[in-house]
Amino acid sequence: MTKVAIIGAGPCGLSMLRSFEQAEKKGEKIPEIVCFDKQGDWGGLWNYSWRTGSDQYGDPIPNSMYRYLWSNGPKECLEFADYSFDEHFGKPIPSFPPREVLYDYILGRVKKGNLKDKIRFNTSVTNVSYDGNSFVVTYRDKKNDKISKNVFDYVIVSTGHFSVPFVPEYPGMKAFPGRIMHSHDFRDAEEFRGKNVVVLGSSYSAEDVALQCHKYGAKSVTIGYRHNPMGFKWPDGMKEVFHLDRLEGNKAIFKDGHVQETDAVILCTGYLHHFPFLSENLKLKTGNRLYPPMLYKGVVWQNNHKLIYLGMQDQFHTFNMFDCQAWFARDVVMGKIKVPDNSEVEKDINKWVSMEEKLENPNQMIDFQTEYTKELHSLSDYPKIDFELIRKTFKEWEHHKVENIMTYRNKSFASPVTGSVGPKHHTDWETAMDDSLKTFLNQSKK
Ligand SMILES: Cc1cc2nc3c(=O)[nH]c(=O)nc-3n(C[C@H](O)[C@H](O)[C@H](O)COP(=O)(O)OP(=O)(O)OC[C@H]3O[C@@H](n4cnc5c(N)ncnc54)[C@H](O)[C@@H]3O)c2cc1C
Ligand SMILES: NC(=O)c1ccc[n+]([C@@H]2O[C@H](COP(=O)([O-])OP(=O)(O)OC[C@H]3O[C@@H](n4cnc5c(N)ncnc54)[C@H](OP(=O)(O)O)[C@@H]3O)[C@@H](O)[C@H]2O)c1
Repeated sequence: MTKVAIIGAGPCGLSMLRSFEQAEKKGEKIPEIVCFDKQGDWGGLWNYSWRTGSDQYGDPIPNSMYRYLWSNGPKECLEFADYSFDEHFGKPIPSFPPREVLYDYILGRVKKGNLKDKIRFNTSVTNVSYDGNSFVVTYRDKKNDKISKNVFDYVIVSTGHFSVPFVPEYPGMKAFPGRIMHSHDFRDAEEFRGKNVVVLGSSYSAEDVALQCHKYGAKSVTIGYRHNPMGFKWPDGMKEVFHLDRLEGNKAIFKDGHVQETDAVILCTGYLHHFPFLSENLKLKTGNRLYPPMLYKGVVWQNNHKLIYLGMQDQFHTFNMFDCQAWFARDVVMGKIKVPDNSEVEKDINKWVSMEEKLENPNQMIDFQTEYTKELHSLSDYPKIDFELIRKTFKEWEHHKVENIMTYRNKSFASPVTGSVGPKHHTDWETAMDDSLKTFLNQSKK
């Protein structure tokens, strides 16, 4: 029997498990599957942890989540085709849920089966090598401090790529008297109440961490961009300036001459694709981009078609794209989809990479990833979902952000699965301090 190792039980690993479960329900004979996760529970990044640094077994904490995180894109754009929000919550819910609500949704469909039995928790994969015929996977059972090895025919890498922080150094950091941290270790904006905060970066973490600090009472928030500013209309108390030059004592000195006294510097400088457990010839090497190289259809490793990566793209689309990838990968593993010969594979990868390199603005990027996801969708029996509506929703969302970065999360969109429109939330995001599932779902609360 074919043996498959899935590394990671975050949204991508769970999509993979779900895809096999659906095939089994249709009467197909599925491979033997073992999923490993180094955390104590499933959900990947969504399994929020208060811990930073190391876990209780001395492993680095993979989690980059924080309290008060709300979805930064409309939930309708990430909805599962085979499990709608309406089905999970029994009613339409607003379009921008907080973390606990999304976590509940992600787990909803996998809790229904017995997929948890296939996962070995608190188990880190420490080495994967290919012997020309199969993969040898070495893993550490952290609780019992026991190292074991098993042989597999396929390996699916679903370890995410927003867990290992990229941490640059700027002159003056060594002598800075305040706090310096990466967004990976940011857990709670309350910590910065009344403080002057400098945030470095110009992408989603910089935007959201800066807004969080402002929302929870920071005295000032100064965002330093390196290449392009985000350019939103920031509220009073927030500003965006050009690139940090150095720190001098507690002063942040920017390249445009701007000087800001600061208590904390939060590096929202992105993450590394980091696979220390893979042997060199299996390792994906890429930055955070929409079409990483060497991956056929964005998933199958060009040099070894039995190695599959899920979710390695920069992400507009998330959960339903992961599903389309998983359904495609499942059919490759089960022999229903034949990977073509090397020259076809290379041609296909080059086509997507060269299209990606020409993208100039968010609208084109949304189109690119929508086309990619639609193509994958057409290759498997993943259920119907309205990608044209998702494309339109993403573009409206971008527009809402430009219009007003403080209010875009108060908007509502239609589901690409059921068509129902998310009701307006009872409290505007800016004043909604309680992000619990209970309060969010209580739609009568004023
Ligand atoms: C702060 C933050 C906020 C985000 N917010 C949103 C949002 O609002 N909406 C959205 O759609 N997306 C959001 N994302 C994007 C996020 O990438 C996806 O939602 C999703 O979590 C990706 O799933 P994944 O399975 O690829 O990776 P992860 O969620 O990172 O899961 C990977 C899993 O692999 C395990 N693992 C890693 N290495 C090993 C190993 N060697 N052995 C065993 N197990 C291992 C980890 O423990 C983890 O459980 C956010 C990302 C970040 C960082
Ligand atoms: N739900 C939410 O609200 C939420 C919140 C946070 C994050 N997220 C998700 O988390 C994921 C990761 O986002 P991310 O913003 O952490 O990573 P990212 O999108 O990869 O962006 C990395 C940023 O770091 C900057 N940078 C890199 N090196 C730098 C340096 N030396 N000095 C200054 N800036 C530097 C880059 O700037 P350049 O452009 O100049 O290279 C870029 O702006 C995304 O999928 C996002 O959606 C979601």
